Amino acid sequence: MKRIIIAIDGFSSCGKSTMAKALARNIGYLYFDSGAMYRAVAYFCMQNGLIEGETINTSELQKRLDEIHISFAADPETKNSLTLLNGINVEHEIRTIEVSRHVSQVAALDFVRERMVEQQRELGKQKGIVMDGRDIGTTVFPDAEMKVFVTASAEVRAQRRYDELAARGDNPDYNEILENVQQRDHIDQTREVSPLKKADDALELDNSNLTREEQMNWLIETYNKIITGC
Ligand code: DC
Repeated sequence: MKRIIIAIDGFSSCGKSTMAKALARNIGYLYFDSGAMYRAVAYFCMQNGLIEGETINTSELQKRLDEIHISFAADPETKNSLTLLNGINVEHEIRTIEVSRHVSQVAALDFVRERMVEQQRELGKQKGIVMDGRDIGTTVFPDAEMKVFVTASAEVRAQRRYDELAARGDNPDYNEILENVQQRDHIDQTREVSPLKKADDALELDNSNLTREEQMNWLIETYNKIITGC
């Protein structure tokens, strides 16, 4: 059977990565989290003193971009995708609220996006992949055979992120998370380079009131329709 590229874009904390991972597992595809790549760059900046307060030292980051190597590996026990920064597993570190606070600014830098998009296209060469992000269906893979644009209300998304952080033992603050979600929506939608927007040929999925099972059924049905028409 033909193997395709599936692009899943949408607002932050819509459950895109959970959905994309589960879809990839169900249909035997590889999953790639493009947001994790931007998070790893933000984490690199934090580790290397390239962020002071809210200001990123962009000229230094540009000079040091070649020092940043991002790759993915499967957790040998859980089989979950792990993000590696220069060969070191940073999956946990890149999910903190501090990284979330800085990542939109890092992701708005044109030279960072250019480098990440190059690497994402490289990953797509093998086909049979599900990649989630903000610009996968518009910029990275405009010819992807299946494009989904996911939405949900900011409150629903903040609650989901809250539950996720609480479940892993953090002590989250709902209002801080909601503010962060709204702020990131604003930056993601209004940035000059590759702003978040639905591709004309993407299918919209509002999952505010859908169970995971209903959502998966919809995805598999959509995938099957596309693959049989290919
Ligand atoms: O999906 P996420 O919350 O882990 O993404 C982290 C940040 O990276 C978020 O601010 C949006 C940005 N991002 C992007 O600009 N382009 C992508 N393809 C993926 C993420």
